[in-house]
Amino acid sequence: VLIYLNGSFLPRSEARIPVEDRGFIFGDGVYEVWRLIDGNAFEPEKHLARLERGLREIEIPLPDDLQAARLWNIARRLIVDNDLTSDEATLYLEVTRGAAPRTHYYPPPGTPATVYMAAARFKPSETLRRSGAAAITQPDIRWLRCDLKTIQLLPNVMGKQRAVASGAIDAIFVRDGIVTEGTHTSVFGVIDGVLRTHPADHHVLPGVTRAVLLQIASDLGIPSEETPMSLSELFEASELFLAGTTNDVLPITSVDDRVIGTGHPGPVADQLFQELRARMDAAGSNRDSGQLEQREDRPATVAD
Ligand SMILES: Cc1ncc(COP(=O)(O)O)c(C=O)c1O
Repeated sequence: VLIYLNGSFLPRSEARIPVEDRGFIFGDGVYEVWRLIDGNAFEPEKHLARLERGLREIEIPLPDDLQAARLWNIARRLIVDNDLTSDEATLYLEVTRGAAPRTHYYPPPGTPATVYMAAARFKPSETLRRSGAAAITQPDIRWLRCDLKTIQLLPNVMGKQRAVASGAIDAIFVRDGIVTEGTHTSVFGVIDGVLRTHPADHHVLPGVTRAVLLQIASDLGIPSEETPMSLSELFEASELFLAGTTNDVLPITSVDDRVIGTGHPGPVADQLFQELRARMDAAGSNRDSGQLEQREDRPATVAD
């Protein structure tokens, strides 16, 4: 597996990060994950915009590698060299504040950020989507900037572990009686025929899939509201599902061992999934978009 680290393409086993990297010491960084369909990214600009906003908010200057043309050239090489031009995959990108002697305050200006990128084959389970899955609830013990996609994921890791240990697919976070999101997913419910999800404030990540699904709902004439669900509303929902880059639309048929709706995946989730899938397939076959094509006018300048 070939990965990209700080200007070089190299086998994963040869990649090295200094022990003083602030990602390792403080979790001082952000990341992003794109879905790749036949080597083309789905909604590439939305993910990039979220990454750029995250870097701005945590005050890491945009590394040169992340200028859009260069970024897509790096991604293209990872896709081609790892044989990911067909079928489905994910592209992972992480940026940390770089390596420097340990101080809580930022290192001197000019300290190079660490930039890591990798692509790997991936496809969500079709079987699980068709059957629906169980979830558990967990108290949302996270900080108040959940809108930032930082690499500090311990509450998410612990929540997901509790879910897996109890045979569930994910944990749904609940803060003050309000459903926020999953450990790596947005949460949607259908209540009285209205699609509901938490507003994109500091309590949730502004999910790209979330935004796309709200757009699809509007296009399909499905009423939707960015109004949070209470935990009691969640249990009364006719449908509940998780949404995210690595989950698409995943119906949840039970929460904390209580049946949701009919106990089977519902029609709204299915309608939204079919349209999401159609848009992903269109992105995959969009050979003219040039989104992840080598841009001849600005060739890659990264060192091998
Ligand atoms: C906490 C959290 N919420 C929601 C999402 C879904 O976001 P997206 O649809 O952009 O993948 C993620 C994705 O990793 C996440 O980590």
